[in-house]
Amino acid sequence: MCGIVGLVGHKDAVNKIIDGLKKLEYRGYDSAGMALVEQNSGELCVIKTAGKIANLEHEAHSKYKGAAEAGIGHTRWATHGKPTKENAHPHATELVALVHNGIIENYADLRKSLLAQGISLNSNTDTEVVMQMISLLLSKGVAPLEAVQRTVSSIRGTYAFGIVFKQHPEMIIGARKGSPLAIGVNADGKLSLGSDAVALSGFANQVAYLEDGDIAQLYTNGSLNILDKDGNKAARPWQPISKDQSIPDKKGYEHFMLKEIFEQPSTIADTLIHYIGRPSNKTVNIHPSGISWDQTNHITIIACGTSYYAGLVAKYWFEKYARIPVEVDVASEYRYRTPPVHEKSVGIFISQSGETADTLAALRYIRNLGHTCVTIVNIPTSTLAREANVVLPTFAGLEISVASTKAFTAQMAVLAYMLIEALKMRNDADLSFELAKEFLTVDALILNALDTMQGLTQLAKKLSETKDVLYLGRGVLYPIAMEGALKMKELSYIHAEGYAAGEMKHGPIALIDKGMSVIALCPYDKEGLFHKIVSNICEAKARGAQISILTCKKGRLLLEEAELKCPIYLYPDATQLTAPLIYSIPMQFLAYLTALNRGVDIDQPRNLAKSVTVE
Ligand code: AGP
Repeated sequence: MCGIVGLVGHKDAVNKIIDGLKKLEYRGYDSAGMALVEQNSGELCVIKTAGKIANLEHEAHSKYKGAAEAGIGHTRWATHGKPTKENAHPHATELVALVHNGIIENYADLRKSLLAQGISLNSNTDTEVVMQMISLLLSKGVAPLEAVQRTVSSIRGTYAFGIVFKQHPEMIIGARKGSPLAIGVNADGKLSLGSDAVALSGFANQVAYLEDGDIAQLYTNGSLNILDKDGNKAARPWQPISKDQSIPDKKGYEHFMLKEIFEQPSTIADTLIHYIGRPSNKTVNIHPSGISWDQTNHITIIACGTSYYAGLVAKYWFEKYARIPVEVDVASEYRYRTPPVHEKSVGIFISQSGETADTLAALRYIRNLGHTCVTIVNIPTSTLAREANVVLPTFAGLEISVASTKAFTAQMAVLAYMLIEALKMRNDADLSFELAKEFLTVDALILNALDTMQGLTQLAKKLSETKDVLYLGRGVLYPIAMEGALKMKELSYIHAEGYAAGEMKHGPIALIDKGMSVIALCPYDKEGLFHKIVSNICEAKARGAQISILTCKKGRLLLEEAELKCPIYLYPDATQLTAPLIYSIPMQFLAYLTALNRGVDIDQPRNLAKSVTVE
C-alpha cells in the first residue's frame, strides 16, 4: 500500500528518495511523488506522476537542478480519488508539502470548513485537507510543530505523515496514528523517515518505530525530537536493520513470485528447524511457544486473504486432532461484530506483513478483553509483532511478490507446529510424536511437487482463455481450493471461485456448462473424502464442465478404474497434515502460468497492495 520515504541531511536527496521509493514498489502503488526544498532557490519543489516510479525518476532528473538536504517521497495506492497526477502525493501549497498513508475519516467535514474559510482544494483526496489545514496555520504565523499538533488533534482516522516546510529546509516532521512510521539513522547520525524498515534499508542501519500519537522532528544536523500523544518528550528504542529487511534480487528468475515459489522447500525447512526437533525414542523436542495449551479450551483465529485460508486449514487440524473448537473469521468482519470471546480462548493473528489494519484492530479487541494474543508473522519488527503477547515468526524471508506464496506455506507450517505442541502439552504425546514425524517430511514432498510445473503449462494455456474457473476441495483442501481461486483472480484477473465440493449442488452447479473449467483437488485419503469428491466431479462432468483432477498415485488408479476420463495431474502421497502444503504448489503454479500467458504484471498485479494498512 502507500509508502513514505523522508530524508534530512543526506547528500543527493533526489536520487536517494527515488532509491527508497523503488524499494517500496513491492507494496503496490499507482502513482508517486516527491517534494524538496531546493538549497539555491529556497523554493519548495513538488513533482508527481501517475504510474510507475520510472516516470517520476525521469521528471525529477529534468526538474531538480539545485541540491536539497531535506525531502519526502511517496508511493500512492488510491483510496479517495482516482490514481491521477493531481491526486498523487505530496499535496502542497507554497509553504508546506505533505505525504500521507492512511485514511482521514472526517475529511468531508474538514473540507467543508476549509471551503467556508475561502481555501480552494485542488484534488479529491482526504490528504490535501490535512495539508491545507497545516498551511493555513503556518500562514497565520503558527510554528510548524504547533501547526501539526493542532491539525492532528482535529482529525479522525489513521495516518502516517511526512511533512517538509519551505521556511525550515533543515527539518522534516513525521507523525503517526494507526499507520506505521519509522525513523532511521545511519553511521554518520543522518536521519530518515520511512513507512517500514525496507524503505530505510538503503540509508540507515538502525530503526526506531514511532508509537501512536507520536510527532517527530528530524533535523539535518542529526538531532531528533519526539513528542508522544500527550506532548511529552519521548525516546523510542533503536534496533539494527537486519539484512532480511533489504530487497533481495530475483536470482535469475523471471519474477519474484516464481523465485518465492521455488524457495518453499528451504523456507519450510527453516521454519521446521526452528520449531520442531528431530523426533527420537518416541519423543520430539519442541520450541516452547509460551502458550498454555493445557489451560486453553478454544481458539480464535483472525486474518485476511491468503493468511485467513491458512487459519481455516488450522481449524480442521486443531478440531480433528486436539479436539479444541476453533473459530476463524476475516478480520474486517470480526472487528465490528463485537463477538463474545470464550473464557479460555487464545487469539491467533496470522499475517505476512504484520501491518494489516483490520487484523491489528482485531488483535487489539481480543487483547483488551485480557486474552493471550499470538501472532504468526513474517516481519518480526511489524506492528502486529510489537503488540502481540507471543510472536511466532514464519522465517520465510522477505516476500516481494504481492501474491503470497512462501509466506502462506510457512504460516501453515507454524500452525502445524502449534498443533504438535498443543498435543504434547495436553498429554497426547504419542499423537504429537506421530504428527511431528509425518510433518517433518513436508519440505521434501514440496520439493517433489515443484517438479510438476512443466506438466501444468498446457492446462494454464487453456485456463488463460477461459472466463470462469471453479476450484473444488473437501476437508483440509477446501481452504486450498479457495486459496487457488484467490491466486487465480489476483494474478490473471480471471473470475475464479473456490467451493466446498459438497456444497456445489446447492447453487454453483447452475453455472456449469462446457465453458466452465473445474479444478478438483482430489488426493486419496483414509478419511473417505476421495470418494465423495469423485461423485461431485461426476456431477460437474455430466453438465459439460472441463475438469482437471489433481491427485496422487492411488487416486489415479481408482479414477482410471472408474473410467472417469479427465486430465489427471499427479502429486506426492499426502496426509491431512501435509496435503494443504503440497496442493498449494499447483495452485500457485496455475495462477502464475495463466498470468504469464496473459502478459500481466505478475509481481505487482493491478489494484493490489502487499501491505494493506487501511481498513
Ligand atoms: C495474498 O496473495 C494476497 N495478496 C492477500 O490476500 C493477503 O494475504 C492479505 O492482504 C493479508 O495480508 P497479510 O498476510 O500481510 O496480513
